[in-house]
Amino acid sequence: MKLVLFAAKDYDIKYFERVRKASFPDIEIEYLDYELEPRTAAFAGDADAICAFVSANVGAETLGVLSQCGVRAVLMRCAGYNNVDVNKAKELGIAVKRVPAYSPESIAEHAMTLAMSVNRHIHKAYVKVRENDYTLKGLRGHQMFGKTAGIVGTGKIGAAMCRICHGFGMNVIAYDMYENPSLKDYVEYVSLDELFARSDLISLHCPLTDDTYHMINIDNIKKMKNDVILVNTSRGALVDTDQLIEGIRLGKFLGVGLDVYEEETGNVYEDRSDEIMMHSVTSRLLSFPNVIITSHQAFYTREAVIAIAETTLQNMVDAINGVSTGNDC
Ligand code: NAI
Repeated sequence: MKLVLFAAKDYDIKYFERVRKASFPDIEIEYLDYELEPRTAAFAGDADAICAFVSANVGAETLGVLSQCGVRAVLMRCAGYNNVDVNKAKELGIAVKRVPAYSPESIAEHAMTLAMSVNRHIHKAYVKVRENDYTLKGLRGHQMFGKTAGIVGTGKIGAAMCRICHGFGMNVIAYDMYENPSLKDYVEYVSLDELFARSDLISLHCPLTDDTYHMINIDNIKKMKNDVILVNTSRGALVDTDQLIEGIRLGKFLGVGLDVYEEETGNVYEDRSDEIMMHSVTSRLLSFPNVIITSHQAFYTREAVIAIAETTLQNMVDAINGVSTGNDC
């Protein structure tokens, strides 16, 4: 069985090879630097399956090329699959599988890291102390204990975030269409408007859908408390970036922590430090002292990358053997 893994990074090769040798020796993996898109899809060659990540373009055109190559499965090495045209894949008889849960705690822990970093100005403190500036100017934070955390989406990651916030001694409120019974002892479900109105920390953990696209817009920002902290580790387009900037300029936010943002596709895992960014709203966002952006790294822990490799290679075996599982998209 042959797998072509697109947009392979050093850590992909390291952990996929470790897991392959230990548990899936019959799978041959070819690692490609290229991102998967219509122009590169033909590099699948004679592979049985291809593996792609969050920034790939797995739309109808790409799938058409993969189908011509004889590819039978698209294996997403991530949870989200909003970049895959699942209906087209079905029409072409290509199985699409993903890794629904590899370490929800890793992502939730990063969400809280972003919240605490903007709250306690860690990004500024780090630079000040390195410059021998030991003053406290600009570093005053807020106590989290006793404050209200509003969690949007209480699936696997949102539930982990609820547990963390509860552990901090926060009141935890949440919005989801479905209540998560494991949280009933300490999470109060409220409407989205009430969540916006009551929360001191808002953390987004719902998927990107037509309903959730630009859920954070200026109308909703105006419903929020002053000095709210907003964290997005889910998908960039949950937040309307231009309107977020408007909200930041209105002074609404104590801090904003983003692991995902609308313009990230060309940036994710690339070194663009020598480039002059033209018309970049990300650059404008980064100009604000109370904004911290990380580049889609919330998942990136040792535990998560091993789990991703294990599940992806098991997904390959299942897809090639025609076995449906809970990992089907
Ligand atoms: P999940 O499927 O376990 O939970 C999603 C929850 O959102 C469900 O409870 C669902 O009912 C709820 N939901 C759906 N539509 C909603 C809406 N309109 N309003 C409120 N809630 C809604 O998904 P999981 O594993 O918790 O992942 C959440 C998101 O996190 C993923 O969709 C993905 O985009 C993102 N993610 C980000 C990573 C990163 O490295 N930054 C890594 C992994 C996932």
